[in-house]
Amino acid sequence: MNINFESFEENAASESSEPVPLSCGTEEDENESALEGLKREIKTYVLRIGRMTAAQEKAYAELSPRWCIPFEKKQLNFVDIFGNTNPVIIEIGFGMGDATADLAEANPDINYLGIEVHRPGVGKLLNEIQKRELKNLFIIEYDAVEVLREMIGDNTVNGFHIFFPDPWPKKRHHKRRMVQRPRTNLFAQKLSKGGYLYFVTDWLEYAEFALEELNETKSLKNKYDGFALPQKWRKQTKFERKGIAADRPITELFFEKI
Ligand SMILES: C[S@@+](CC[C@H](N)C(=O)[O-])C[C@H]1O[C@@H](n2cnc3c(N)ncnc32)[C@H](O)[C@@H]1O
Repeated sequence: MNINFESFEENAASESSEPVPLSCGTEEDENESALEGLKREIKTYVLRIGRMTAAQEKAYAELSPRWCIPFEKKQLNFVDIFGNTNPVIIEIGFGMGDATADLAEANPDINYLGIEVHRPGVGKLLNEIQKRELKNLFIIEYDAVEVLREMIGDNTVNGFHIFFPDPWPKKRHHKRRMVQRPRTNLFAQKLSKGGYLYFVTDWLEYAEFALEELNETKSLKNKYDGFALPQKWRKQTKFERKGIAADRPITELFFEKI
């Protein structure tokens, strides 16, 4: 059994028609949140027991030493990691990573760093790295917020992909949302001039919320007038398929560092 992190994923199998993270709305969670508020920063995910398939276990054991970068309170040197000076895109919360592998395969001249706390997803993506012989994709299995703070240099990131982040739809859980101030300042701080933040969701109210938060973030500018047009190069993700199957609209935001 692996101790792992829970997020929105398991909710898809829950009875609710709302995409609510499993932990949402429970008394336990409320107590935990109250404690968290006192002790440490509110997280955008909740710790949970996770299951891995045999293939994911195997990939994790064999490939993580090569393709996973351990969390450390030390800044990364992208040239040392990737062995080149190509642009670096960070994907936050890649889930099962299928779209991540598709993008890395389609763009060998772009470097990708995927950050995820869900270990089965890390195992799955490691498998894809090996199967597709990718050389331009590394993984960090840790809280992306901490990784940005501690490991990523200011003005060094060419783009952030935040695809279908947990929507945390209940108002009392909005504080768990990934895209909100002051965290948006951290994204802006890490982007190089002209770098972008690309956010896609199937939860319209989160898109409206994030639009306002990003509009209010100094040094980020909306490339569009409101919601963005879908970028042709974006690959469909697992949660996008779920959103489409449930008839939820897909909404996109594309902001640039000025
Ligand atoms: C709703 S899923 C979407 C996954 C994928 N992007 C997709 O579209 O299929 C959100 C993912 O974000 C991850 N996540 C949430 N907060 C995170 C954090 N602070 N650091 C890293 N991953 C995080 C969760 O573990 C989860 O896998």
